[in-house]
Amino acid sequence: MKRAIVIITSLLALQAYGQPHDWENPAVLGIHKLPYHATLQLPSREKECKEIISLDGQWLFHWSPTPESRPADFYREDYDVSQWGKITVPGNWQTQGYGTPIYTNIEYPFVRNRPSVTTEPPKDWTAYENRNPVGSYVTFVDVTKEMLQQHLILHFGGVHSAMYLWINGQQVGYSQNSMTPAEFDVTKYMRVGKNRLAVEVYRWSDGSYLEDQDMWRLSGIYRPVQLWVRPLVHISDYQVTAVPNDDYSRADVKADISLCNVGNKAVNGLQAVLKINRHNIKTAVKSLSVGDTTTICLHEIIDKPQLWSAEKPCLYPFSVELLDEKGTVIEHFDYHLGVKKVEVVGEVFKINGKNVKLRGVNRHDHHPQTGRYVDDATYEEDIRLMKQANINFLRTSHYPDREYLYELCDRWGIYVMDEANHETHGYGYANEEMGEDLAWQQAHVDRAESLVKRDFNHPCVILWSLGNEGGVGPNIEAMYNKVKALDITRPPFYDSDRRYSCIWDDSYLYPDVLKKNAQAVTDKPFMMREYAHAMGNSCGNLQEYWDVIYADSSIVGAAIWDWVDQGLLKDGYYAYGGDFGDKPNLDAFCINGLIAPDRKPHPHYYEVQYVYQPLQFLQEGDSLIRIVNRDFFTQIDEYEYYCEVYHNGELVSGELARVNDGRFEIPYPYFPYDDPELILNVYARLKEAKPWAPEGFVIAREQFVLKPHEFWSALGGEDAKAVKSADRAVYTTDNGSVTISPTGALVSWVADGQEMLQSPLEPYFWKPENDNQHAAHFAEVSALWQDAAEKRTVKAVRIEGNQVVVEMSLAIGAELTLTYQVKADGRIKVDMAYKPTATDLPLMPKFGMRMRLPTDFTQIRYYGRGPWENYPDRKGSALIGIYETTLKDYETEYIHPQDNGNRSDIRWFEIGKLHIEGLQPLCIRAWDYGEEDLVGVRHPQEIKRGRFVNLNIDLSVHGVGGADTWGKHTLPQYTIPANQPHHYSFVLSRR
Ligand code: GAL
Ligand code: MG
Repeated sequence: MKRAIVIITSLLALQAYGQPHDWENPAVLGIHKLPYHATLQLPSREKECKEIISLDGQWLFHWSPTPESRPADFYREDYDVSQWGKITVPGNWQTQGYGTPIYTNIEYPFVRNRPSVTTEPPKDWTAYENRNPVGSYVTFVDVTKEMLQQHLILHFGGVHSAMYLWINGQQVGYSQNSMTPAEFDVTKYMRVGKNRLAVEVYRWSDGSYLEDQDMWRLSGIYRPVQLWVRPLVHISDYQVTAVPNDDYSRADVKADISLCNVGNKAVNGLQAVLKINRHNIKTAVKSLSVGDTTTICLHEIIDKPQLWSAEKPCLYPFSVELLDEKGTVIEHFDYHLGVKKVEVVGEVFKINGKNVKLRGVNRHDHHPQTGRYVDDATYEEDIRLMKQANINFLRTSHYPDREYLYELCDRWGIYVMDEANHETHGYGYANEEMGEDLAWQQAHVDRAESLVKRDFNHPCVILWSLGNEGGVGPNIEAMYNKVKALDITRPPFYDSDRRYSCIWDDSYLYPDVLKKNAQAVTDKPFMMREYAHAMGNSCGNLQEYWDVIYADSSIVGAAIWDWVDQGLLKDGYYAYGGDFGDKPNLDAFCINGLIAPDRKPHPHYYEVQYVYQPLQFLQEGDSLIRIVNRDFFTQIDEYEYYCEVYHNGELVSGELARVNDGRFEIPYPYFPYDDPELILNVYARLKEAKPWAPEGFVIAREQFVLKPHEFWSALGGEDAKAVKSADRAVYTTDNGSVTISPTGALVSWVADGQEMLQSPLEPYFWKPENDNQHAAHFAEVSALWQDAAEKRTVKAVRIEGNQVVVEMSLAIGAELTLTYQVKADGRIKVDMAYKPTATDLPLMPKFGMRMRLPTDFTQIRYYGRGPWENYPDRKGSALIGIYETTLKDYETEYIHPQDNGNRSDIRWFEIGKLHIEGLQPLCIRAWDYGEEDLVGVRHPQEIKRGRFVNLNIDLSVHGVGGADTWGKHTLPQYTIPANQPHHYSFVLSRR
């Protein structure tokens, strides 16, 4: 008895004392939060909506490192905030000088101990001092008498991670779930005149356990805030579906419009109207009593509908209106619909009945200056760049983006996988902890519901994703059921518990494994929701992936990880994990984009554009090019085709092609010469401008080498004579001298009184790692190549005729022979032959030589692949041509410095006074720093530049790799096996 009493009292004490905070309690998802609903007005037309008052702008702000230190009573009307700082809303506070941005991937930024987010972390973590920072916001809003007679709703587009709201000192409510809107009925708290809004935002909450996405962890009121002034009787929600019938001859448009009466008298004679296709579909609502809601359903049939697809984003604008008994419009909203059908038929995914391929990319909502708030112009730039890259599929990894993005995808044509704000990766991929803990079920479901309800009316959405890298079990099942109950027109997708997904996801596979795994799954379509990890210098073997994807109708497609480098601008450079002293952090792992933070495309962006192009060109015989269409809703004659013929890189003809039966003839201009390299470039161009590209924009291209370059076999002209002088071999030429040292290196080359070399031309087999190669242990595995050439033993330096032959052996187990031949006019032919003697040598990073040139050798002109950087496994987009550039632009400046700047298939190359002629195609990299200058460097501004020009002249270089950045390798066909002989030559001359 006594014991029982003790237990009861201590329980009571615990409750009183340990009452959990709302923000550390998974059962409290919101307090007085209004139900989720669809975006009522098209985002681009919000300004025309008289009901919306924007509250964006400068708010008063106070930042506290911990909940305990926050000004707890700041919401009071008499609390003096006159000394507070200002903050821009929408915006994150960390990007405006308050607190510390943290970049972490899987590891939570606080101690994992759910639902607590304030458990003591290690002392060196950011969260140790800043245990759970709180942002206190105050702003004022003027309300008139007329407004007060209506219904006032405060709308927060997105607040990270949890918020309380007070108005005029009175508490209104609470919300978490940070990536979809929170709305509160504030009518009764407002008064005529100036009203004081107070918002308290917590950096972390129990909701943060479901928000463990791999991204910058930023906080605050980061999406727009609006005051909606609504009639007492109003449209609370509407959902429109427009699905075609089986033969696509008609579409059944169905609008479910919810009305409510929040006034204090019943209303009669309301009418709801759907205006579409020049029809007004009306229904009368007899009466709506006080506090009542009703949903009415309006139907319209569209005959011979134009379908919506990413290729042809045909939209039907419509409006919904509410009319009072006198027929006066009391509410009006504008939106658009698209007629389309999404189906999973066996193992085939179809849109509008066609087995379309999703050429995808993942995107985080990121801006280098405003963090999680991305403005309209940047959204437009992103979607424009995606469309221009032939991307037709966007996964909003890993949460819903701001509404305007979806409107752009509707209008310009991008299929969207809309993803719920749910990731619990910190508990492990496909974890049971979060998937099975029923105390967290409602929190899971809330995220699915808020997603589907908000974005329901966007035609671009084709799949609802339940989240990324989350749990397995009943909580996922509950999300799945929720999505199914809310929308029957678009199926749910999920990666971590495949029972609850209409598509089987298996990501980051090698191309051959993709092929095998897709064949093994026979009951569902297959996709890689993420692949081609685009970190740094990457995205090799993209074509290999798509050869597999196009060949298997069960593979839906794949989405690159990811769109934009998540660098945050700091003191003029792009910062990543650790740069703010943030801990824990995952370093540069957020720099994985096809484009830089300022939206400048990386070289691999163009490779995506090429591999994703909807048309393929194939040569048939000597005279025809056949066009293969990979799209379904666009005909090939909707583009114009342009052919260019190049003779040794010079344009000799350019003309439109006449297409007949999907083919056109190759134009062969007449040549007075007998040995030109003849190249045909074909382009498919837009016949008319699109919202995302001008008329003439090249949508697809291909290059055909009709007659290959004839590389020199021998050098004509008179030889210079080699003589031994001291221990060197010296040539005297008409304009100077050439010296080969006993080490076998070309140590001096004087021409017209200038020394051309700042350091010798020598064999060199090393190249620094790129990000993809680091976890694959490239540097360790191939370490012996780093000084393989340096550790050479010269066996003989012989003068044979007029050639200097240097024989050496490499300590790693190989023989190397260098042969020099110098002409009287000063040209130098260099030949390098490699023969392994060992049998177990690791892959060679590159086969070639290197030298340093004077610093003023910065003008570059070459005939090879360009204009952008290309490597053996990423060169399809880089057409062979003559390109002119500078040393600065030849380099690709990656945010995390690494190997870069290669150009492949070079026939000849000029830099400053130097001309190089390949006797077979060459790879050349040129930097104003050395390989060693990249070691340990975190940012471009740390590189020691400008002491020399470093030139690598190679036969080949190890490909960049294309699968992932955590261990996968460059495909074997793009590597250099060291256990077989290699040989190449080139000719140097002074211009
Ligand atoms: C994926 C994950 C992404 C990102 C990527 C690595 O597995 O879904 O969010 O972390 O790895 O950059
Ligand atoms: Mg993750």
